[in-house]
Amino acid sequence: MPRDYDRPSDATRAGECAPMDCTSRSPAAFFDSIAGRYERSYGLEGGESRRRMGWVLSVLPPPPSRLLDLGVGTGREIPFLLDGGYDVTGLDASTAMLERCARRARPIPLVNADFWNTLPFEDASFGAAVALHGTLAHAPDDDALTRLASELARITVAGAVWVSEMPSPAWLDDLGRGAAFEGCVVRRTGLRTCVCEDSATSASIDVRVPSAQEWRVALEPQWDVDIAGMGPDAFAGNRAVASEDFRSHVEWRVIARRRQS
Ligand SMILES: C[S@@+](CC[C@H](N)C(=O)[O-])C[C@H]1O[C@@H](n2cnc3c(N)ncnc32)[C@H](O)[C@@H]1O
Repeated sequence: MPRDYDRPSDATRAGECAPMDCTSRSPAAFFDSIAGRYERSYGLEGGESRRRMGWVLSVLPPPPSRLLDLGVGTGREIPFLLDGGYDVTGLDASTAMLERCARRARPIPLVNADFWNTLPFEDASFGAAVALHGTLAHAPDDDALTRLASELARITVAGAVWVSEMPSPAWLDDLGRGAAFEGCVVRRTGLRTCVCEDSATSASIDVRVPSAQEWRVALEPQWDVDIAGMGPDAFAGNRAVASEDFRSHVEWRVIARRRQS
């Protein structure tokens, strides 16, 4: 059988990963169950993907640089990152998503790990990180983002850039007005939380949406943080809306720049 991807113990000499959470509502279990339909039902349409990745590339440090793709999934963004000159490593909790990713024409190192735990990489080994298309929306607790920010600060060099695309609190507020993921029924469960149930498999996953203040508190010990709105208006001319009105946008781009330590 071909070797598709590395378990953390194969892939690294640094750090220990806690055992993977594969309980029924965990990201690993959810994405394993929908992996076969991910690109069709959840992935972005090609043109929009290209537009988004053009913008992501425009804020990354210049290549060459080692880049960690958190929640690499089926690897939709890999061709853009490789074409941009980055040395890409993908990490994902779902073995089924990674198996699909491993079939891509241009293979990259893939690691099966949970990014809310210790990251299985050495200190100062990356110049950039991305976590795109809502990948960080399933934090297991209120402190998880702080832990991830500190782990990413450990494994990146000063000046590194980390870009996240995330639903915003305005997205949660819009749920009452009928906004939902395609293919998913969304039920709000709290001020910053909801549950998404996949319409085809009935698998569900918890979603936690940090406020701008929560992003800043979690990241600012090590990172300078900019939040920009995404959405139809924000994409005009491939510009992010960097002004105070980002709060009304249903998706945010969070751009974090690693300070000198
Ligand atoms: C919405 S998909 C995005 C995939 C890809 N980045 C894209 O834009 O198409 C989120 C991915 O993040 C992974 N993921 C979610 N939580 C994770 C965690 N705690 N650790 C590692 N991967 C995780 C999921 O398995 C899934 O493949």
